[in-house]
Amino acid sequence: MQRREEKPTKFYELSMAERLEVLMRQANLTRQEADMLSSAMGLSPAQADHMIENAVGIYGLPLGIAQHFLINGREVAVPMVIEEPSVIAGASFMARLARAGGGFTAHADPPEMIGQIQILDVDDPATARLKLLEYRDEILDAATKCDCTLEQLGGGARSLEVQVLEQPPIGQFLVLNVVYDVRDAMGANAVNTAMERIAPMVEKISGGRVLLRILSNLADRRLARARCTIPLGELTFENFRAETVRDGIIAAWAFAAADPYRAATHNKGIMNGVDAVVIATGNDWRAVEAGAHAYAARSGRYTSLSRWGKDRQGNLVGTLEMPLAVGIIGGATRVHPAARVALKLLGVQSARELAEIIVSVGLAQNLAALRALATEGIQRGHMALHARQVAIAVGAQGEQIERLAQQLIDESNIRLERAEEILKEWKSAQET
Ligand code: MEV
Repeated sequence: MQRREEKPTKFYELSMAERLEVLMRQANLTRQEADMLSSAMGLSPAQADHMIENAVGIYGLPLGIAQHFLINGREVAVPMVIEEPSVIAGASFMARLARAGGGFTAHADPPEMIGQIQILDVDDPATARLKLLEYRDEILDAATKCDCTLEQLGGGARSLEVQVLEQPPIGQFLVLNVVYDVRDAMGANAVNTAMERIAPMVEKISGGRVLLRILSNLADRRLARARCTIPLGELTFENFRAETVRDGIIAAWAFAAADPYRAATHNKGIMNGVDAVVIATGNDWRAVEAGAHAYAARSGRYTSLSRWGKDRQGNLVGTLEMPLAVGIIGGATRVHPAARVALKLLGVQSARELAEIIVSVGLAQNLAALRALATEGIQRGHMALHARQVAIAVGAQGEQIERLAQQLIDESNIRLERAEEILKEWKSAQET
């Protein structure tokens, strides 16, 4: 008797429980850790009550896993928290295309953040500036000594600069910027503490009055970069020639490069991927958002964070460079149970490695959006995905999923009730 070869079931075709089983095997998660991801044992009300003020509950968002990512030669299952459909499917699909060209190559700068001190009421800003520079070593030393743990780990203040701001609305004042290596933390706490501690010393040296002592979210010393090559042949789909898709993607990017109205939406697509991983790992997505958009406007004109072009062989090449202030210690990264497991799933040992994954996901997400926009438009993909999800929700299995999804699309009626009806019709037709 001939045995029929079963096609391996795709991750998205599995039930939630089955997907968790796969993750447990792949990433060596315990049952308890799987429960933390599934929210069966997620953040407790008691923990939430300690995290913020006036807590009354916990607000849920879907957590999914992007597939097919090969980053710096390593397979990575990427946890993403997002309410928008198509984002995870888009990232996974683009990761598959990129994999055919060797995956993503990513690199992140050392984890250096900038702390700022605003100094008002100095007699002569130019003289005060030089005095602060003369005490450079003492100031850096005092800033480093604020955090023993960080110092032991090799972090601390690295350099400083003093600027006279010439034209603020209240007249000239000084700003002291301290570059601070925060190791594997996001760094806001370490930097803010250090700035507050050195403020009296700064007042004494400058003869001025310190007002603000705070981290800058324009983390342009902490850039993360990713690049990928999509072999031309991978870009063909349906009736679209590979060259047409490639050139369409490049033209779509050029639009964002030249026009801030388009650049805002283009970068929003990048942030769909970036934020989803930032949130899943318990990091501060507002900080990352602020840094990304400020960096996109660094030339004085807001523009695209990514670039797309072609290589000599005609393959599509993409790069993304942006600030990424994320940590793997401190804040919610260790308090939130799902964030802890997300970090385990990612298998990262440092904040830099986490940034390398996040920037790769941002690039994949950007590609997903541009590819769709430059060809069939984004609505069709959204509908197809929605139809597939409806098909799975009513219990379609294997090949039934695509067939049912297609019928729902053809009927322009993507509703659970109709999907159930069709499935029932198929069953009774089989029985008779
Ligand atoms: C939607 O969430 C994101 C897109 O608008 C991004 C883009 O236009 O590049 C599709």
